[in-house]
Amino acid sequence: MFGMPINRYGDASVFEASKELSTPSVNANEVLIKVKSSSVNPIDLMKREGYGKTIFEKQRKKLFPWILGSDVSGIVKSVGSKITKFKEGDEVWGSTSDPKCGTYCEYNVFNQNEIDFKPENLSFNEAASLPYVALTTWSALIRWAALRPQDLESKKVFVQAGSGGVGTFAIQLLKYWGAQVATTCSQQNHRLVKELGAEVAIDYRQEEFKNLLQDYDVVFDCVGDFGGSESVNNCLSILKDETTSHYISLNHAFLRTIDEKGLLLGLPSAIKLRHQTKKDAKPINLHWSVYRPSNSGLRELGRMVKAEIIKPVIDSVYSLENIKEAHEKVSTSHAKGKVVIEVNTE
Ligand SMILES: NC(=O)c1ccc[n+]([C@@H]2O[C@H](COP(=O)([O-])OP(=O)(O)OC[C@H]3O[C@@H](n4cnc5c(N)ncnc54)[C@H](OP(=O)(O)O)[C@@H]3O)[C@@H](O)[C@H]2O)c1
Repeated sequence: MFGMPINRYGDASVFEASKELSTPSVNANEVLIKVKSSSVNPIDLMKREGYGKTIFEKQRKKLFPWILGSDVSGIVKSVGSKITKFKEGDEVWGSTSDPKCGTYCEYNVFNQNEIDFKPENLSFNEAASLPYVALTTWSALIRWAALRPQDLESKKVFVQAGSGGVGTFAIQLLKYWGAQVATTCSQQNHRLVKELGAEVAIDYRQEEFKNLLQDYDVVFDCVGDFGGSESVNNCLSILKDETTSHYISLNHAFLRTIDEKGLLLGLPSAIKLRHQTKKDAKPINLHWSVYRPSNSGLRELGRMVKAEIIKPVIDSVYSLENIKEAHEKVSTSHAKGKVVIEVNTE
């Protein structure tokens, strides 16, 4: 089959077209999907550069060629012996963090818990723009911070970086759950984030959010320590100094520490660092959040999309052959919503 794998770590030029990739066979709980569309998430760029390799290399059977890509929309081609929910021809969507299930290729297998039926009111390109960012947000709020939708009702929530892939989804979800949302982005994206539901939009190039916001209940930080340690402290400073406050970071030092120190030394070191960071933030609850698949989250996403509560926000669409340019676009850190990859137009 055709795909755009990498054969070494590096910049966006490491993708190499190949027509000789083997189509994987399905295990009992798996579904083989003909990939129609995928998307680019910053994690795909980071994996391409070797981020997290101490862990990800252990999870792959063969190091290279490595097929990246975390989102999928497509058509079921065949199913494993224990699959009763899906059959050949079903239109599905989903996402994965499994390094063996990349979607920058024509076919791949997914665990049945990572996919669901694609909402009919979305095109394949639209459908591939949502699952990873949606389930990242879902994991952050529900799994890691243990918040329920009703906990967010009338609460003041700050989303740092509201105009990117995660931010454009998070604003819509939080608004739907009744939160009052403030966010940061460039001036030219203020109209977009306000249309999505943000009440306050701050141009981070002109103003410091910490001087404008106070007494917030939750910060959902899509910049994290990539913005420097001051960025995290600034987020903590706008929260109420109470045990009901939550700071949730999507960018933190867990995998970076393990990469730097190796698994044996790195893992306890990363756990210690997280423990200390949590302790320093008290009484505010601090969470280092990572994407986790969630079947219930994906089902709820499908319901919200069908009801037009959530709409996809697409920056641009590239063909799979132009994956290099798509990755370069995301590497600017100024995509407006999602960069989508059209894999198969037939
Ligand atoms: N832990 C996890 O499992 C997980 C999962 C998903 C994502 N993430 C991380 O979360 C972050 C966001 O992901 P994403 O998919 O939303 O990325 P993205 O789409 O590439 O984000 C681009 C957006 O970031 C905004 N931005 C850049 N610098 C900013 C700053 N200093 N302040 C405010 N906004 C800024 C840009 O706004 P303007 O163009 O308007 O300036 C742009 O709209 C990434 O760093 C990613 O690695 C982590």
